[in-house]
Amino acid sequence: MLSEVLLVSAPGKVILHGEHAVVHGKVALAVALNLRTFLRLQPHSNGKVDLNLPNIGIQRAWDVAKLQMLDTSFLKQGDVTALTPEQMEKLKEVAGFPEDCADHEHLAVLSFLYLYLSICQSQRWTEESLELINKWAFQGERVIHGNPSGVDNAVSTWGGALRYQQGKISSLKRPPALKILLTNTKVPRSTKALVAGVRSRLLKFPEIVAPLLTSIDAISLECERLLGEMAAAPAPEHYLVLEELIDMNQHHLNALGVGHASLDRLCQVTMAHGLHSKLTGAGGGGCGITLLRPDLEQPEVEAMKQALTSCGFDCWETSIGAPGVSVHMAASLDPPVRQALDGL
Ligand code: MEV
Repeated sequence: MLSEVLLVSAPGKVILHGEHAVVHGKVALAVALNLRTFLRLQPHSNGKVDLNLPNIGIQRAWDVAKLQMLDTSFLKQGDVTALTPEQMEKLKEVAGFPEDCADHEHLAVLSFLYLYLSICQSQRWTEESLELINKWAFQGERVIHGNPSGVDNAVSTWGGALRYQQGKISSLKRPPALKILLTNTKVPRSTKALVAGVRSRLLKFPEIVAPLLTSIDAISLECERLLGEMAAAPAPEHYLVLEELIDMNQHHLNALGVGHASLDRLCQVTMAHGLHSKLTGAGGGGCGITLLRPDLEQPEVEAMKQALTSCGFDCWETSIGAPGVSVHMAASLDPPVRQALDGL
């Protein structure tokens, strides 16, 4: 039982290159962002577990006593396995959800309940603990996305910049602190459906789609090589090559069928300001990234953000390579963290 408020956070992430291709065994480059999600764990004496996810409008409560009475033998720590359909049904029953619920809000609550019932809280994270957090996060992802590659949970656990291929993770040493603009088109999409769409296109046109995946793999490897060079001696030419890679990958992703009119709009608006963008993650709406070259003047960035905002998008200026999952002690909160928490 916690005796005081515990604050933990994990970074947001973007995939620089390799989304979708990573599901088919190719390389992905993923980076943690200096935009974090905070979780405040606060002890209560009202006998309830309250879940409050203000950003997606979720507020739920369960009686601790009732949760303790549940048979959770299928959720033992150290035994991190995928939920069977029967276990998933059981979780829905615990949550009081209908059997056919499949929307993001319901799935987010189920993912929380699964993790809550499974995890023993620990404050000091050894490599072993991080491995465990990563495994739990992967299973949480599976509740929502079905069959994820594992790249998203890995980069949010370890932070920094990762190369990920078929479960094999290596950290890029000293990644350059690239600045990017993260833009949310606010168009909802289902990662599960988009991943399935790419798979069926691959099955339908193997001779056409397999080379696209191979080319995306080569883009990720070239980007990794370039980031290594930039760490040693960054030069303006590096940014030009990064921009070319972004454009080529965006075209490939469109050819895989995961583009969207909102993402085309995002690319056009940033291109009008001389900047290059690509979708990040599953596509079909969702988010895009724009590389902010170091020679850019701030008024130019502000003008572009204004243009994107008037399309109905949300934007955040951020940088890559943030720390992974972290515990923040309430006593040592710095002002930006306090500010972020005011919204919780
Ligand atoms: C989603 O963020 C990234 C995808 O490659 C799916 C996955 O890797 O699980 C589209």
